Amino acid sequence: MNALRTYPIIGAAIAQIAAATVVIAALLALAGILDGRALFWLGLIVQSVVAAMVTRLLGLPVWWVWIGLLFPVAVWLALNAGDLPAWPFGVGFVILYLVFANTARERVPLYLTNRPTTQALVSLMQQRHAERFTDLGSGLGGVVRSLAGGGGRARGVESAPMVWLLSAILSKIQRRGQILRQDIWVTDLSREDIVYAFLSPEPMPALYAKATREMKPGSLLVCNSFAVPGIVPDETWELSDRRKTRLYLYEMKSRAPADGGAEPSG
Ligand SMILES: C[S@@+](CC[C@H](N)C(=O)[O-])C[C@H]1O[C@@H](n2cnc3c(N)ncnc32)[C@H](O)[C@@H]1O
Repeated sequence: MNALRTYPIIGAAIAQIAAATVVIAALLALAGILDGRALFWLGLIVQSVVAAMVTRLLGLPVWWVWIGLLFPVAVWLALNAGDLPAWPFGVGFVILYLVFANTARERVPLYLTNRPTTQALVSLMQQRHAERFTDLGSGLGGVVRSLAGGGGRARGVESAPMVWLLSAILSKIQRRGQILRQDIWVTDLSREDIVYAFLSPEPMPALYAKATREMKPGSLLVCNSFAVPGIVPDETWELSDRRKTRLYLYEMKSRAPADGGAEPSG
């Protein structure tokens, strides 16, 4: 199961192969009963539904279930697309890479903090009289721009090229916050009062190890939705937004020794 977590594409392939086996068995059983057209549509539907179900049973994240469901239809559409030019697909791929560069490498897709959560972070900053805030993986920079000003300094760190460019331009135009084009694993956290991370389950153990090595005593690591496995948070805030967002607050005690933690996943 660990291999599936690290390489979910293996699970996706297993799901399609399992579904194809069911489809072949069903088609053989129904060959004399249904005509060719009906068999084709039945095969396509069974392939999609069974692949999605197996993906779910394998415990892959929900977007892989959608991929399992839509993949057979996508293959069928591609095979029937006729003589389309190739370049739009190349351009599409480059754009997707520039926006979602971290999804494959870090297993962290782009989704954004909502307004109630941003408000909760603003009040957390005020409650703790925090002056320095870093959003690790700042996406379009909305959190950074909302928290900048009022005497404090907020910065974001983002490595997906197009996402960084857009957020850096927005921050410059609005003169709120600073967005660095940087990998979160090389960002220095030693002077931050609050470090915020809305990433995925994958990097949390290594991120916590980095935070305990670098962050000063009394500072806070705030994790949106994805807790650090095996570490009890000092506080958990459950917000009353539609998503029932949970913020896990980890207060740093003393700094851990430099070699005392897990290595980054990327
Ligand atoms: C889920 S989004 C969160 C965006 C933003 N923090 C927010 O809450 O609205 C995670 C972001 O982290 C970025 N990211 C993932 N791994 C990264 C890394 N190693 N270095 C820098 N950014 C990274 C992704 O590109 C993505 O924009």
